[in-house]
Amino acid sequence: MNKLTLSALVAALALIAAPTYAADVAAGKKIAEGSCADCHGDDGKGDDENPAIAGMAVDKFTKAMTAYQDGTNTKDATMAKAAKKLSAAQVADVAAYYASLPK
Ligand code: HEC
Repeated sequence: MNKLTLSALVAALALIAAPTYAADVAAGKKIAEGSCADCHGDDGKGDDENPAIAGMAVDKFTKAMTAYQDGTNTKDATMAKAAKKLSAAQVADVAAYYASLPK
């Protein structure tokens, strides 16, 4: 594959992957403070029992949340419960919020 084809492909993929919903960081912060900070910490840096999620890329974050929601990831029941409370739009909001935090 030549370079031009590759960059065209990457551009096309970026378009497909672009969320149709404009994520709201402020709304995500509210959800995070109410439902996630107890375990993941106010700064999203986690602790011995809970992973750090601050600075996580939006797509990775969204994939992780989807895995808890659809039952692909059953490692942590309370985490799954927290994920299942959120709509897709709310997941996009918290994803944008945590992605905006420093690692
Ligand atoms: C009861 C504690 C608890 C709460 C509340 C909680 N989490 Fe978690 N979360 C965990 C634990 C424990 C894990 C690791 C589980 C595992 O190994 O799959 C985790 C994993 C994650 C991951 C995957 C991290 C990775 O590196 O793959 C994300 C993303 C996440 N949580 C986001 C959230 C969000 C967003 C909220 C709020 C809506 C939330 N969590 C609420 C305990 C919690």
